[in-house]
Amino acid sequence: QTIYLSDYKVPAYLVDTVDLRFELFEDGARVHSTLAIRRNPDSQESAPPLELDGDSLVLESVALDGTALSESDYENRGEQLVIRSVPERFSLSVVTWIEPQNNTRLEGLYKSSGMFCTQCEAEGFRCITFFPDRPDVMARFRTRIEADQKAYPVLLSNGNDVDRGELDDGRHFMTWEDPFPKPCYLFALVAGDLVEKRDTFTTCSGRDIDLRMYVEPRNAEKCDHAMDSLKRSMRWDEEVYGREYDLDIFMIVAVDDFNMGAMENKGLNIFNSSCVLASQETATDMAFQRIEAIVAHEYFHNWSGNRVTCRDWFQLSLKEGFTVFRDSQFSADMGSPTVKRIEDVTLLRTAQFAEDGGPMAHPVRPASYMEISNFYTLTIYEKGAEVVRMIHTLLGPELFRKGSDLYFQRHDGQAVTTDDFVRAMEDASGRDLSQFRLWYEQAGTPMLTVSDEFDEGQGVYRLTIEQTIPDTPGQTNKKPQHIPFALGLLGSDGQPLPLRLASDEAEAPTERVLELTEGVHTFEFHDIPSEPVPSLLRHFSAPVRVRYPWTREQLLFLMNHDPDGFNRWDAGQRLAVDVIQRLIGSPDDAAIDPRLVEAYRKLITDTDLDQALVAKMLQLPSEAYLIELAESADVPAIHRARERVLEHLAEALRDDLVACYQRQQETGPYEVTPAAIARRSLRNTALGWLLMINDDEGRALAVRQLNEADNMTDRMGALRALVNSDYEADRRQALDDFYDRFRDDPQVVEQWFSVQAASDRAGQLSDIEQLLAHPAFDWKNPNKIRSVIGSFAGQNLAAFHNPDGSGYRFLADQVCRLDDSNPQIAARLVTPLTRWRKFAPAYSSQMQSALERIRDKDGLSRDVYEVVHKSLAG
Ligand code: ARG
Ligand code: ZN
Repeated sequence: QTIYLSDYKVPAYLVDTVDLRFELFEDGARVHSTLAIRRNPDSQESAPPLELDGDSLVLESVALDGTALSESDYENRGEQLVIRSVPERFSLSVVTWIEPQNNTRLEGLYKSSGMFCTQCEAEGFRCITFFPDRPDVMARFRTRIEADQKAYPVLLSNGNDVDRGELDDGRHFMTWEDPFPKPCYLFALVAGDLVEKRDTFTTCSGRDIDLRMYVEPRNAEKCDHAMDSLKRSMRWDEEVYGREYDLDIFMIVAVDDFNMGAMENKGLNIFNSSCVLASQETATDMAFQRIEAIVAHEYFHNWSGNRVTCRDWFQLSLKEGFTVFRDSQFSADMGSPTVKRIEDVTLLRTAQFAEDGGPMAHPVRPASYMEISNFYTLTIYEKGAEVVRMIHTLLGPELFRKGSDLYFQRHDGQAVTTDDFVRAMEDASGRDLSQFRLWYEQAGTPMLTVSDEFDEGQGVYRLTIEQTIPDTPGQTNKKPQHIPFALGLLGSDGQPLPLRLASDEAEAPTERVLELTEGVHTFEFHDIPSEPVPSLLRHFSAPVRVRYPWTREQLLFLMNHDPDGFNRWDAGQRLAVDVIQRLIGSPDDAAIDPRLVEAYRKLITDTDLDQALVAKMLQLPSEAYLIELAESADVPAIHRARERVLEHLAEALRDDLVACYQRQQETGPYEVTPAAIARRSLRNTALGWLLMINDDEGRALAVRQLNEADNMTDRMGALRALVNSDYEADRRQALDDFYDRFRDDPQVVEQWFSVQAASDRAGQLSDIEQLLAHPAFDWKNPNKIRSVIGSFAGQNLAAFHNPDGSGYRFLADQVCRLDDSNPQIAARLVTPLTRWRKFAPAYSSQMQSALERIRDKDGLSRDVYEVVHKSLAG
């Protein structure tokens, strides 16, 4: 049941062309497939059987070189179609019957609000027809779609449309041809009654590309932002990576029911509606930014994923890590680089570090898996992106670009490995990355323990850095990794000091990237006039934890003086963490360090600081992050401690908050720029804090903002503030009004569900059960499931970790319920329970029982089985 990287064998047969004909009906679909197959000259096997993958298929017929096969000529094992003896080169025609209307797993071909669509990555194509469903089999696809003309006027697939026409019985067809060989996971089909939005993009070589978005008619006005993002992405990839688009058409389709965010199918990207549709009235600033990033991500896959693809699924991070790195560079260029870095690091340190420290920990290139869908993880995506970022740091931008050029040129049209990627970087730069490759092989988050001493007489500052990598399931005694460690030193006047190493002759820089390769290093900096404050791991130059005995004075100093914006923010976070941690479990009247209040007062009142950075610095570390840092977490205690700090700050800064709110009033028209986003974020933070302390002026401001807002960021900011307040009547009223206004817009209803489910006031378990019974809730729609159940278990942590265990039992029940209909979603929902070892015994034992309940369900899917068994064992 477990698949190992070490078992990899090249495919015995290759497929040159795939000819598909889909007959789409209301009660099912017939799929005619003709494959041109030949023996793989690189395969060592002599006369191997032909083995094709299949899943939930009704096999209607098989023909070899035009001759129908009888049932004795092949073996239909359900998950595999095996033909014992086949010629060197032949054509195979297979007809299968499938039922997209009953496909609740949302893998393969399925129906979503009346339209047909597909999701084939990773192994969904086998739910459509029998095929060697592995990414190193690349073929040219030709696809003919036939359907009722009235219900499905739009028929789409990959590549260029080459033929269309009418058929009998009010049906029509359309034929698409994709000139680029591709693995079947990049296949896509869409059929529906959709409106088309068009635009064009002229490439660097002067070709005009036809850009098209297809959405349901009610969403016609929500396409502009995605279309603009697409054009910016296309330009950026030409300018920064020299990558030009290759087909004449690029299409984006929005569907409501989708397991993930979006999918990079060749020339036909399919998006979860919530990751592509936006308007000022219905989408928050965060949604605007997320859409821009996801549109870019999927577009960038055209080169990092499609033109150069993965040899096998162990190499998933080859395309995902690299593409996340590319999209984060793009977002940094489009907005505020410091803010983007803070957001990425927050996600990494909160969620990826938790994954790396839990039972599902795996390397960026895993060595084994049971169900590949479970490996679309933060480690593959986010840590994978950090690994590519470190290569970028070690090589510098010019050599990195040389490396990516070589990679794309050398491997165009191939299915390759992460090792091939690193080799291209080595060959282009002349750098030796052999030790660096351990980042792909070893799981776990390295810990750097830093100590320092200052020798006043000699003017020498000595920094010692020790590296350890914790054990993870199946991996112990790890080797030291190659870590780029960026740092600076600040003098007592707050000025950056030159970092002079003994070996230096020329002018010393004020920031350096030290390269750690051994278990312990000591660095000596010379000509240091007085004891400096170190600014460590600037811009988070490696995905590691840093332990250093910072004093609160040092952190306050860095908050005020560090020229690295990221480390300013980080110093503020460390200070707040320290203050909150000291309060956990202490009496309610325990004192709170007044220096924290003054630091925050400075942030709120200082209008000279970068307001985008200020907006981020004002966010206290999340409960999830505090849990991640804890040894044995007592969530309700963490929650109370954090709330106490928030309330204390809000009370002490009450007048400054009101003034800040007034100062940030919008003057001009709505725009989504870093400055405007920062203004709205500051104002809404101020509002949220005022309502935390039941301030009546705050309440009036919130009610007014809710009624007058011309955009969703402000409307949601006011709603969230009221929902999290003690003004119960206002909360009810605000929620009801909001729902009445937006009930016909699923993406907004999802936000409405989520703001309640994530709130400790409005999201107690009985409230959650009511949300599940709400007419707008839909068990078949992953977004609704995530917005209620996911928000509750992932964000409403004090309620989820109710000491009576009710939150855990609830989650286990929902996982069991979803396991039959949508195993991918069910397996994702288990995640909070998998962290059970992180929590104090009273909690962890009940979390364990919840996992056992799931384990004991009849007919558990492979997806949930893997997660639950590894969690209980690891
Ligand atoms: N390749 C897609 C993306 O990241 C994600 C597809 C996820 N599919 C899955 N079955 N988990 O852009
Ligand atoms: Zn991706």
